[in-house]
Amino acid sequence: MTIQGNERTYRTIAVTSGKGGVGKTNLTMNLGVLMAQHGRRILVLDADLGLANLDVILGLKSPYQLHHVIRGEKDILEIVAEGPGGTRIITGGSGILELLELTEAQRETFIGEFWKLGSVADIVLFDTGAGLSSNVLAFLLAADEVVVVATPEPASITDAYATIKVIAQKNRHASLKLIVNMVEAPEEALNVAEKLIQVCQQFLNIKIEYIGYVPRDKNVLQAIRSQQAFTIAFPQTPASRHLGSVAAQLLRSIGEEDEDSKFIGKIRRFFGNAA
Ligand SMILES: Nc1ncnc2c1ncn2[C@@H]1O[C@H](COP(=O)(O)OP(=O)(O)O)[C@@H](O)[C@H]1O
Ligand SMILES: [Mg+2]
Repeated sequence: MTIQGNERTYRTIAVTSGKGGVGKTNLTMNLGVLMAQHGRRILVLDADLGLANLDVILGLKSPYQLHHVIRGEKDILEIVAEGPGGTRIITGGSGILELLELTEAQRETFIGEFWKLGSVADIVLFDTGAGLSSNVLAFLLAADEVVVVATPEPASITDAYATIKVIAQKNRHASLKLIVNMVEAPEEALNVAEKLIQVCQQFLNIKIEYIGYVPRDKNVLQAIRSQQAFTIAFPQTPASRHLGSVAAQLLRSIGEEDEDSKFIGKIRRFFGNAA
């Protein structure tokens, strides 16, 4: 769904993996930072309702979280906090078990609050939890795009496939993208991508678009230790440069290229048509 906001619409991109610990949260936050550098208003929502950790990674402590909205105690715009690099974020509620399985009614209220985010964001990124609980699935099926993060580890590849399979069964037209993280050598990333693209095509008859890889980079760890986004702490480190290409590719792929290039495209078309 492209959610119809008060004044504008915004796009939703869910980031998922199947397996935990593949770098979802870090990639989501940093993709947000990079897309903000392209002039997009970005909101990162920690949709890992069970074991939220965006706030831990960033060292942020916001007084209000998603569960206040779920319980109807707060309006969603009241819990939006400042994130790194001009982004905005909504953190989850660490370890609050009641959030693991929302009732149908709670989920409806919660989703109903969502349209309001259009007043502060052009793109909302969902950092989803590992596994495929009904809540994770709700976010994945509601999002305009799903970005699957896999690593070259066999367990991560099979879990990514299992996740894609569930999404494909529920929505044949899902728009799926793939990022390979923690890559040691470029061939390794290509190998993982080709394998996944092939099995998804063969067994699920669904296309996934490979949008690039992020190398294993010790500066990612270094940034996490100092509770910073790695693209801000180390903008020139290989992980940041590669994720920069991924962010640009993702924006192109969803038709959200830079205003500049849109402008150039329009001028080209204008002259093309006039000629
Ligand atoms: N590109 C990378 N290079 C090195 N380490 C990474 C990279 N991406 C993720 N990590 C490591 O993986 C850990 C888990 O990342 P996180 O974003 O929390 O994963 P998830 O959200 O999928 O559970 C991080 O703490 C970091 O140590
Ligand atoms: Mg995470």
